[in-house]
Amino acid sequence: MQPLDVEIRDDVAILWIDNPPVNALGFHLRARLADTVRGLQDEAGIVGLVLASRGRVFIAGADIREFDQTPKPPSLIEVLDCFDGSGKPIVAAIDGAALGGGLEVALACDERIVTSRARLGLPEVKLGLLPGAGGTQRLPLAIGPVEALAMIADGEPRSGEAAKALGLADRLVESDELLEVAAARARALAGGSGRKRLRDVSLGPDELPALETAADEILGSRGGEPQIRAMVECVRNRFDLGFDEGMRRERQHFLRLLEGDCSKAMRHAFLAERRSAFKSTGVPAAEVRRVAVIGGGTMGSGIAMSFANAGIPATIVEADEAAAARAASRVAETYERSVRRGSLDESARAERIGRIEALVGIEAAAEADLVIEAVFEDMDVKKQVFAWLDTSARSDAVLATNTSYLDVDAIAASAGRPERVLGMHFFGPANVMKLVEVVRGEATSESALATVIEAARRIGKIPVVVGVCHGFVGNRMLSRRSEQVDRLLMEGALPDQVDRVLVDFGFRMGPCAMSDLAGLDIGWRMRRATGKAAPVADALVEAGRLGQKTRKGYYDYPDGRKAVVDGRVEMLLREVSERAGIARRAVGQQEILDRLLLPMINEGARILEEGVAARAGDIDVIWLHGYGFPRWRGGPMYHADRIGLDEVARRLSSYAEATADAALRPAPLLKQLAEEKRGFASLAPEHKE
Ligand code: 3HC
Ligand code: NAI
Repeated sequence: MQPLDVEIRDDVAILWIDNPPVNALGFHLRARLADTVRGLQDEAGIVGLVLASRGRVFIAGADIREFDQTPKPPSLIEVLDCFDGSGKPIVAAIDGAALGGGLEVALACDERIVTSRARLGLPEVKLGLLPGAGGTQRLPLAIGPVEALAMIADGEPRSGEAAKALGLADRLVESDELLEVAAARARALAGGSGRKRLRDVSLGPDELPALETAADEILGSRGGEPQIRAMVECVRNRFDLGFDEGMRRERQHFLRLLEGDCSKAMRHAFLAERRSAFKSTGVPAAEVRRVAVIGGGTMGSGIAMSFANAGIPATIVEADEAAAARAASRVAETYERSVRRGSLDESARAERIGRIEALVGIEAAAEADLVIEAVFEDMDVKKQVFAWLDTSARSDAVLATNTSYLDVDAIAASAGRPERVLGMHFFGPANVMKLVEVVRGEATSESALATVIEAARRIGKIPVVVGVCHGFVGNRMLSRRSEQVDRLLMEGALPDQVDRVLVDFGFRMGPCAMSDLAGLDIGWRMRRATGKAAPVADALVEAGRLGQKTRKGYYDYPDGRKAVVDGRVEMLLREVSERAGIARRAVGQQEILDRLLLPMINEGARILEEGVAARAGDIDVIWLHGYGFPRWRGGPMYHADRIGLDEVARRLSSYAEATADAALRPAPLLKQLAEEKRGFASLAPEHKE
């Protein structure tokens, strides 16, 4: 099948782009586009060209999968040189997303006619790149340098309406008149002013000071990102250099960034997110029109808000009137805070709050298509709730538990319809965090799974399917890191030193600051229940240092929020080390980093071996969206592949020996891949069946 076909309408040629699924500018499409534009130059009866697309996306940009292959000519720049060289006007008819290279194609056209379904943007920044086919050169000429820099740096698409207001689109029309208007414009240009190329426009020097101010601002906040520095320089070049030289510099930056580690990791993240998307084997998802959330505490109220925000009514079911009132006011307060911050307007607040009710009695869950349990993390309480649900929820309803650690199969067994039960593990704050681990139980049916995945997508979450085990994927790996934090502190490291290593690596917050925020009592209670110990964390809790809520934890919080190093913590650490008979030593930064990350990766290998996660990329997606792993590092498993699994295994073995910690020995799968000189990525099929 051709990725582009030509329809002749009187004296105008419509170039229909048809390269499913998203009309990416792969090699075949590029070649065909260039040949077609060139070929049409000699067609005497044709006065103008219209570029349109089949499918709901205009053009999604360059084909990201080709970035890791040897480039095949023609490059997109060469294609757009053909556009520039055309003697006949070319009009873009945009009725969907025109992103990255897709917008660059549109910018090389004479005019852009859009509908309200159009989305125009340059998302390259999210792939660690800058636009590489003239985006940084033509966009400033279309909408001015300040707006252009903002659009290139934020990477967010603009709507058809916004594009028209910016001057990026020439006309905004209804979908059913799009082609007609575009063809009429091509004809009018041919018969009138002729070609209208952006490259022939120039910027006046009076626009420079505003750009300098905008550039200083963005460099101040994001100057650490290499692609931001490059895009500022390229936009500025529009004032100082000729168009062709500006294009050449942009290309140089693009190729340099493309080869860099940051962009490679961010491209991996993009593709891993798409591959992790569960594709049902054909069983249809049932539509979720109403949800019930059992337990309106921290998590339950956030979960209810996530649904209400997406237009789905939610009933919170609480244990008694007082708890129901608390849940309702928690919801109201959160929305009020958003209104005060300016991120929500008054009418949206009223609409959303109107979709949430907080009631008492499990019967209130009777109407729901999906019930999500978020009561205390206690197996007996959860089993009781599921037994009740078995009699009160609709027989076709899907029943989900938000448990963090407990056995989903054991919970499912108490419901009498285990095929309708699964885990939906949200992350706090649930109305903000995008990740949901969807825990597939032994008996979970395909239809329950499909329903939950679809519902999660509808509310803007990123669902990743995982299997049953203690802590699922994310928390199970996190436990390995927490164990090492405790050991490192006992061996001689200090909390701020441990935290700094991870912040330098790219996390927003280190593990000690994170525990202080969440509260140290949660882990302590869990260790009590399972007979485990963490000598340092336990000693802190026993000294009344529970974290921010008691203004003392690993750090002091004199004003309630800002962490200050407290000498008493070091004294406490010394006592703990002494009690354990450990002579404290200086622990180096590399050792800290290795011992925080490598045991998690080792656990990730076990998770893959057990089939709890389907592919290494899924684990990366979980860490990127649930735990703040820096996107430009790609995720823990990708990071391991970058280091090399033989090196990861070697370092783990040496730490296992040095610290007499058998848990650090390389997992069998890691060892095997290391010996075969393979990476985790080699385990994953290109695409999910
Ligand atoms: N290249 C290759 N494959 C792409 C792609 C791209 N640019 N964009 C999407 N795909 C693939 C996805 O991997 C997925 O594949 P799969 O079905 O095999 O898993 C399939 O297309 C469908 O994608 P989505 O699931 O994301 O579909 P949606 O309908 O949800 O979203 C979209 C469509 C809004 C176009 C979204 O896919 C998107 O944002 N794509 C990326 C856009 C982008 O980053 N473009 C810039 C590329 S870099 C560039 O152009 C450089 C240039 O300046 C030279
Ligand atoms: P929470 O203590 O804030 O809320 C629990 C709520 O459940 C309380 O409001 C309580 O009144 C209510 N409840 C208890 N028994 C009930 C019953 N029989 N019927 C109706 N309501 C009942 O707890 P939180 O933090 O919201 O946790 C809930 C669940 O979510 C737990 O399983 C937890 O492990 C899990 N979770 C918690 C996360 C967090 O960051 N806090 C993150 C992810 C999951």
